[in-house]
Amino acid sequence: MLRIEDLSVSYGNVQALSGIHLEVKQRGVLHGVIGPNGAGKSTLMDAITGRRKPTSGKVFIDGQDITRRSVHWRRRMGMSRSFQRTSIFPGLTVRDQLELVASQLGEPNLDEIVDAFELRAVYDEQADSIAYGDQRRVDVALAMVGKPSLLLLDEPAAGLSTTETIALFEHLRTLVERRGVTALVVEHDVDAVFRFCDSITALDLGQLIVTGKPVDVRSDQRVITAYLGTAA
Ligand SMILES: Nc1ncnc2c1ncn2[C@@H]1O[C@H](COP(=O)(O)OP(=O)(O)OP(=O)(O)O)[C@@H](O)[C@H]1O
Ligand SMILES: [Mg+2]
Repeated sequence: MLRIEDLSVSYGNVQALSGIHLEVKQRGVLHGVIGPNGAGKSTLMDAITGRRKPTSGKVFIDGQDITRRSVHWRRRMGMSRSFQRTSIFPGLTVRDQLELVASQLGEPNLDEIVDAFELRAVYDEQADSIAYGDQRRVDVALAMVGKPSLLLLDEPAAGLSTTETIALFEHLRTLVERRGVTALVVEHDVDAVFRFCDSITALDLGQLIVTGKPVDVRSDQRVITAYLGTAA
């Protein structure tokens, strides 16, 4: 589904990513990306969405080389990412926002998304007036609209409590499976990542340390040293 070959990205003199190889073969899976601050996680997401041009390497979706494709082209072919979008249309209700995006993208089953993210209670509230945790759920729900084939989420649970984070990942997991969406999620709450992701990539200093199942990544000595610490 997604294949990344020998991907490198630099910002001037800063080598943010070097020689990354990554493959996510299946649909309907949640793939976590972890690593310390500055590891290159956001840069990886930006290189996949096309926001950031790689200095070398290639990105393939379903076998097609998309490295030189525009952000818009990628979006049209089914790539979606979350934005903190709840405040870009001030005054709109949660319903208005979701219905607007659903009609733009031809979403056949908005109810499924609204129910999965438990948004009924705030559906007719103004999106910028609801609680922070509810706003983050709306953001992720918006990114799910239109049945994307690949969904990229960069710290969707930032600022949420542990309970809210677990709930968000539970909702995400359910929908990813039900809709056959492949989702890449950057997250610092490692307990949530290890519990809900099917596979995980750990980065450090722009290098890929390991990709594997949660149980294997969690016990990988290099991941423990670079990121998890001895308590993990
Ligand atoms: N626009 C930029 N200009 C210059 N250097 C940048 C830029 N964005 C990121 N970097 C550098 O590239 C490296 C990777 O940054 P990146 O934001 O991808 O890390 P990250 O893993 O997402 O970190 P965090 O967990 O803090 O979000 C870091 O050394 C960072 O300082
Ligand atoms: Mg980041």
